[in-house]
Amino acid sequence: MKGIDTKPWGGRFQEEVDKFFEEFSESVSFDHELAQYEIKASLAYAEALKEAGVVSEGEFLAIQKGLLEIEEELKSGKFVFRKEYEDVHMNIEKALFEKIGEVAYKLHTGRSRNEQVVTDFRLYLVDRVKELKVELKGLMETIVAKAEEYYGIVMPGFTHLQHAQPVLFSHWIMAYYEMMRLHFQRLEDYEKRLKICPLGSSAFAGCAFRIDRKKLSQRLGFLEPTRNSVFAVSSRDFALELLFILSLIMVDLSRWCEEIILWMSPEFSFIDLPDRFCTGSSLMPQKKNPDGAELIRGKASSVEAAFTQVWGLMKGLPLSYNRDMQEDKPPVFRAVKTTWQCLRLMSLMVAGLVLKKENIEKHLPQGYLLATELADYLVYKGIPFRKAHHITGQIVYYAEKEGKNLENLTLHEFKQFSDKIEEDVYEWLTIENAIKRREIWGGTGFNVVKQVIEAAKKELSESLHV
Ligand code: ARG
Repeated sequence: MKGIDTKPWGGRFQEEVDKFFEEFSESVSFDHELAQYEIKASLAYAEALKEAGVVSEGEFLAIQKGLLEIEEELKSGKFVFRKEYEDVHMNIEKALFEKIGEVAYKLHTGRSRNEQVVTDFRLYLVDRVKELKVELKGLMETIVAKAEEYYGIVMPGFTHLQHAQPVLFSHWIMAYYEMMRLHFQRLEDYEKRLKICPLGSSAFAGCAFRIDRKKLSQRLGFLEPTRNSVFAVSSRDFALELLFILSLIMVDLSRWCEEIILWMSPEFSFIDLPDRFCTGSSLMPQKKNPDGAELIRGKASSVEAAFTQVWGLMKGLPLSYNRDMQEDKPPVFRAVKTTWQCLRLMSLMVAGLVLKKENIEKHLPQGYLLATELADYLVYKGIPFRKAHHITGQIVYYAEKEGKNLENLTLHEFKQFSDKIEEDVYEWLTIENAIKRREIWGGTGFNVVKQVIEAAKKELSESLHV
């Protein structure tokens, strides 16, 4: 039987494969990451074959024993992957043959690598998604802890990176909690579509042997078997959907890192990061650089690139399996690892983040944070908002020229712009009262922020399962 030694399709071929092409087309150098899932799926498939009467009890036991030995070798790092066997599937099949002889080839009855690769890939991602959820939850816990630690501290809130309105630091950081919370929900929802079992689809037309696909799916921890065998081997939507979620996570982390980097600069000096997450300069002895945050910001680009890479790979591909699809794994593996690492580092950094209260307070009188308050005050005095806005704008312009803050203008000065302004304006124009007026669900009011923090703690302990 020419060719069976290395290539499973050798029978049809009269020539050995070109060596350069062999090297070019191998995937085991990266898909070896799927090895433990290949074993898991093969064990379940062997059992299904036995139950269908395709292999005998004795043959099944031999296959099982061989696969378990290979699993041990994989765990201990003894297993040697060989490029001439092309991919993880063939490497394991060959190893099984070396251990138990011809019976090994029975495992491939009715089975195709087209379904194997997509089954392994899904199983691999089921585990990775679990790990990502653990890290996401960890980050959410860290955020809540910081929001509690610095509860009550007011900082300038920004739009366009300009001073806008006062806001509780806890409210600002809880915005990131909200983002991570939605990502967690996205992953949970995604799992429903990820956990479907392609095995039993064969090359694309469905298995010709009567295996019990429901049982097989259950054994592997899937929710149900796929309903269409052509779809089963063609689909990479599950890879893309995950990459999209990971890209969203990384976009949010990169925005947060940008703030951390900015806030650590002497111009802001709102925060400090522990030395252990920073590096120095080989030339300038005074430097302490927020490299951890910069790297997360930078790595966001590689995750987004992975998404567009697979997006482009799949666009226009005809059904069912095409070899192009082998190229999906490196970007997915890379994106999953990078996002996991970034979530973890983010948790560690945020846990060690120190807020510099005195410096933040120094920024509060700058940038007319209370201008909106004054406009709202005029509204309460009966002036339509657009007009109130205009009057306040004129007052700000005047105050700026005088080098004063709004609350430092005299009543006489105020009256030049509106006779509705009374002595009570000074009580109105305080940072604290600006926060207090925002006791609206989702706003920065002291009480409501506390309520949201409490709701988050409850959710973390009671309903976010990983
Ligand atoms: N290494 C292949 C991949 O990752 C496995 C499937 C190969 N199937 C085939 N008919 N050549 O996609």
